[in-house]
Amino acid sequence: MPEFSTPHSVKKADTLFTESEMIRSIRFAIASEYEAIQIYEEMIENISNKDAKTIIEEIITDEKVHVGNFLQLLKILNPDEDQYYKEGYKETLELLEK
Ligand SMILES: [Fe+2]
Repeated sequence: MPEFSTPHSVKKADTLFTESEMIRSIRFAIASEYEAIQIYEEMIENISNKDAKTIIEEIITDEKVHVGNFLQLLKILNPDEDQYYKEGYKETLELLEK
């Protein structure tokens, strides 16, 4: 369920985000996109209306694009973090090669 007790609350802060708050808010946005995908996939599994399924599937695709948008933005704003993701990709491939 949506929760708005975060930096994304409708209540505007008195000051702008610091650099670290902005980065944290982007990470939160990425998690929110994944949460939306999860909710929409559950919806598809539990409804029978074909038109609704078609539209929700399109929205899921859009949300995956949004994940990419935010990840790229995070990479631009915090390039150091990207090295950890690359390390994880590499480590996974190495483990699977065993
Ligand atoms: Fe989205």
